[in-house]
Amino acid sequence: MKQDLLRRTFVSAGSVAAIGAASGRSAAARPALLGGDPVRTRPFPSWPQTRPEDEASWVDALRACKWWRREGHYVRDFEKTWAERLGARHVIATANGTSALMASLHALEVGPKDEVLVGPYTFIATINAILALYALPIFVDTDPATHLLDAGKIEGAITPRTRCILPVHLGGNVADMDAILDIASRRNVPVLEDACQAHLSEWRGRKAGTLGQLGCFSFQKFKNLPGGEAGAVVTSDRSLHRHAYGFHSHYRSPDETAPDPAISRNGINLRLAEFQAALLLAQMKRLDEQMQRREQNAEYLTALLREIPGITPARMHPGCTRNAYHLYMLRYDEAAFAGLPRSRFLEAVRAEGIPLGAGYGPLNRDPFLENTLRSRNFRAIYTEKEIQQWRERNQCPANDRLAREGMWLPQHVLLAGRSDMEEIAAALRKVQQNAAGLRQT
Ligand SMILES: Cc1ncc(COP(=O)(O)O)c(C=O)c1O
Repeated sequence: MKQDLLRRTFVSAGSVAAIGAASGRSAAARPALLGGDPVRTRPFPSWPQTRPEDEASWVDALRACKWWRREGHYVRDFEKTWAERLGARHVIATANGTSALMASLHALEVGPKDEVLVGPYTFIATINAILALYALPIFVDTDPATHLLDAGKIEGAITPRTRCILPVHLGGNVADMDAILDIASRRNVPVLEDACQAHLSEWRGRKAGTLGQLGCFSFQKFKNLPGGEAGAVVTSDRSLHRHAYGFHSHYRSPDETAPDPAISRNGINLRLAEFQAALLLAQMKRLDEQMQRREQNAEYLTALLREIPGITPARMHPGCTRNAYHLYMLRYDEAAFAGLPRSRFLEAVRAEGIPLGAGYGPLNRDPFLENTLRSRNFRAIYTEKEIQQWRERNQCPANDRLAREGMWLPQHVLLAGRSDMEEIAAALRKVQQNAAGLRQT
């Protein structure tokens, strides 16, 4: 087996060299995957980035020895500052974005036998938060042009069991909130925005995460505002705030005093530690500057990529007035690349020094869902007929297509310079020019 692998490696390396030589083209024109020179050898900016002020803030929290929110001031300062940045009344800092979603769903009293309308093109955490409360995620198909929930398909999915609409502002691109809020108010269903990837994104000048009854953020290490592991619930509703806060801290009141006997219920501990809040406050000072750079580079990159047939950058709804570009999302049409499969295309682009990744897979068809629905706890709640009906409703053909075609660049690539955007486009063009050769090897 090992011998065979070695032989194949040798043969393919040999044929690569032969193709290169036979083509008689310069090393710069030849794809890096076939032995040519890569378009780019310099790395893109790394992530996360630290500065001395991060360290000072962190060390201060450490030395204060007031490491949890009731004693220290960093968690509370962070909540106040983030609320001001968003224009929201209340923020609850949480251990991560998943727990922010769980606390929000709890506040909306989502539970067994309830349905939550959600798009399948998202990180698994959005779905796991719903399942953690024993509710069912009802998948609404994706609009492949924006990579976001197709708002036109929401109304047809509403049933008497629908308890919440959960749009995800994926990659910082904001879902069609005009349409979603209109349906929500007509059908009297609350909206919880998953803004985990949409720090400071805007819909008609209002911050993503503040348009529905509740919004959630993640400040995990890769996010535009990174704190290692951290999250936040955002709401301007006093009662939802109390219930989300309570769930996240054993139903204590928002000032961390004893539970209010009038409302206290089951809660858990999803609190954020002082260290992460200290780091987030320091990191937040750079957020605006970084956001502007991402936006400028994304706009330039879009103009460059529009010239490449078969590459389609994700469209923004006209109402999306700012995009955080946590991901720069695009679609690939192999027909414009001599039938080169996406996996091979990505390999070739990465060999040119561009960290382009495949997008999400078809999450609504992932085996973890069936295993969950067949688990003892779910079988105790849902009848076989209900589960079968869920399966029959779980059809998202546009999302299936996007799962085959979607790709993205991570946000920190957009922190590079203008000429780096030109190199991204140059790499894609080079792979396109060599697509037929790449397909044969
Ligand atoms: C869209 C989305 N929702 C939820 C989450 C969950 O956040 P966390 O990883 O902080 O729990 C993430 C994190 O990657 C996310 O991207």
